[in-house]
Amino acid sequence: MLRCLVYLSTARSLFSDSDLMDLLKKSQANNQAAGITGLLLYSNGNFIQLLEGEAEIVRALYSRITRDPRHHNCIQLFDRATQARLFPEWSMGFRPSAAMTPDEMGAISQFITDTHAGIRQSDDTATPTALKLLERFARNMR
Ligand SMILES: Cc1cc2nc3c(=O)[nH]c(=O)nc-3n(C[C@H](O)[C@H](O)[C@H](O)COP(=O)(O)O)c2cc1C
Repeated sequence: MLRCLVYLSTARSLFSDSDLMDLLKKSQANNQAAGITGLLLYSNGNFIQLLEGEAEIVRALYSRITRDPRHHNCIQLFDRATQARLFPEWSMGFRPSAAMTPDEMGAISQFITDTHAGIRQSDDTATPTALKLLERFARNMR
C-alpha cells in the first residue's frame, strides 16, 4: 500500500548551499535504498517535503525526520493512501529558493504563512493547495 505524506517545517538556522547538498545527498541515497520518492522545497528557512512509498517505510522515515535537530515545527499537511507516485523518478527532487522565480517564491511564502497561521491546517483544502504547488514545481524541474 503506497502512502503520500506532506509536511512543512522550519530550519533551526538557515541552511547554506552545502548544508542543503549534504542533506540531499544522504536523503537520496537512503531513499533510493528504501523505495522512497518525493520532493523537497527549501525557501528562506522553511521546508516543504513530500514523501511517498510503502506506508510503514514512509511512517518510519517521517518519524525519524521529525526528530532531526536541524529543523522543528513539523506540521503534517496530509498523509493518505495513493494509487500511483507523483514523483516516481526522484529519490528526492530538490528546489532551492535561489532557483525559483519571484512568483514561485511568493506562492511558497504565502502557502507557508497561511498554513502556519492555521488557516488551512486541518482543512481538506490543504490537500489540493499543497499538491498544486508541488506539481507546479515538479513541472518546472523537469
Ligand atoms: C528537512 C529534512 C528532510 C529530510 N529528508 C530526508 C529524507 O527524505 N530521507 C532521509 O533518509 N533522511 C532525510 N532527512 C534526514 C533525517 O532526518 C536523518 O538525518 C537521516 O535519515 C539519517 O540517516 P542515517 O541514519 O543514514 O545517517 C531529512 C532531514 C531534514 C531536516
